[in-house]
Amino acid sequence: MRQPLVVGNWKMNGSAATNQHLLADLLAGCSSLTRCRMGVCPPFVYLAAIQAQLQGSPIVWGAQNASQHAPGAYTGEISASMLQDFGCTYVIVGHSERRTLYLENDGIVAEKFAAVQAAGLTPILCVGESLEQREAGVTEQVVGQQLDAILNTQGVEVFDNCVIAYEPVWAIGTGKTATPEQAQAVHAFIRRQLAEKNQPLSEKIQILYGGSVKGSNANELFSMPDIDGGLIGGASLKAEEFLTICRASE
Ligand code: G3H
Repeated sequence: MRQPLVVGNWKMNGSAATNQHLLADLLAGCSSLTRCRMGVCPPFVYLAAIQAQLQGSPIVWGAQNASQHAPGAYTGEISASMLQDFGCTYVIVGHSERRTLYLENDGIVAEKFAAVQAAGLTPILCVGESLEQREAGVTEQVVGQQLDAILNTQGVEVFDNCVIAYEPVWAIGTGKTATPEQAQAVHAFIRRQLAEKNQPLSEKIQILYGGSVKGSNANELFSMPDIDGGLIGGASLKAEEFLTICRASE
């Protein structure tokens, strides 16, 4: 039985004051959760404050990105080992906004994945197709290639310490959610790809869905057998909405 996991990706949102209120509300609400693990990924600069507020609570935290490089002359970058200093559990890698806006290709994503694991942290690997790719019928090919970039260079065993987030690009921030059946089909495909190489690992790995998840659609998405929780953008900025999504995963 896989534990449900719901992670809020705050993206470039929030302030010291709003974060503190949001977390206070989540801390108050999370005591009613029985099985769901709740996580938040704030912008880097708030990690120290988030660590201070969440330390000792059931809520875990992580970062939205990390450099693929070890510490050194990389102006403006943050290494995975630095994130470890701030008690991070997870680091999101390969989010479609990073792939599209910052030109992170599969090779860079694979390097980031390895750097995160080398620092003892757990990557949340994002995969997903664009609208054009879905309409062209190549969703499985695209997602398969994104997985292969890591499978072929690092082997299947690295997926033992990893969460996968399937996020169809056309569903991110658009209000247009994949139907539970569409999402389930891709989740099952991902699990099959891993099962071909390591069956027990494929049954253990958490595969999250992301893309316009809300309190009102979380139940039906999370009721699908291969959807183990969510990576939540906009709806993770509202405490009640996020708690409703977490409850729906149980
Ligand atoms: O990482 C989260 C995803 O990009 C989903 O964002 O819930 O705002 O659509 P969204």
